[in-house]
Amino acid sequence: MRAFTFTGGDAGAWRIVSTTAIVGETLQNAARLSITSAQDAAQGSSFQWQLSGITSNDRYVMRPEKIELVAKQQGLGRPEASLGCFIPIRKTPEWWALTQDERRAVFEEQSRHIAIGMRYLPEIARRLHHCRDLLEPGPFDFLTWFEYAPDHEIAFGQLLAELRASPEWRFVDREVEIRTIREP
Ligand code: HEM
Repeated sequence: MRAFTFTGGDAGAWRIVSTTAIVGETLQNAARLSITSAQDAAQGSSFQWQLSGITSNDRYVMRPEKIELVAKQQGLGRPEASLGCFIPIRKTPEWWALTQDERRAVFEEQSRHIAIGMRYLPEIARRLHHCRDLLEPGPFDFLTWFEYAPDHEIAFGQLLAELRASPEWRFVDREVEIRTIREP
């Protein structure tokens, strides 16, 4: 399964603790977050917002980075990882006008996205979803999802601060941070 839908509404295993606009327009407050396959996504109007994205092949990772990532990263769904954070992100037209090699230079050589992120593994588990290639592209380019144990909540905040201070984030023009806690 590659296509996932995040629904902010009254249902779902994750209770929404806070919704914060980091840059650009926020999303409406909702009580709970449900994460399903796109096929199983709730229909109708009993939700505040619904966003879909597809997992994909890597765009920027080099072989040595891939080897290190695969060795260190953990999957979603660890019992102790009871905190979740959903961060939809949109990048500027300037970003999308760059070539692949120019984007890689900003992403890693200038911003150290992978090098920074790697320091937070294995504690933080993540999944990246792309939105631009959907038949009906939504309001964001990426949906990012993270899971971690309460002991690592402070570290997660440091990770966010480090990435947001990097040159890559000058190309982010909409970002919303939705903190959740798993409460089935
Ligand atoms: C847990 C530590 C993290 C690691 C190890 C990590 C690693 C990566 C890697 C390897 C990629 C590139 C995938 C590719 O080659 O296409 C990537 C992309 C991305 N990550 Fe992270 N990341 C981390 C945390 C974060 C956080 C906290 C955010 C959001 C605040 C984030 C947002 C993104 C976005 C939006 C992309 C797509 C960038 C683009 O294609 O333009 N990452 N990440």
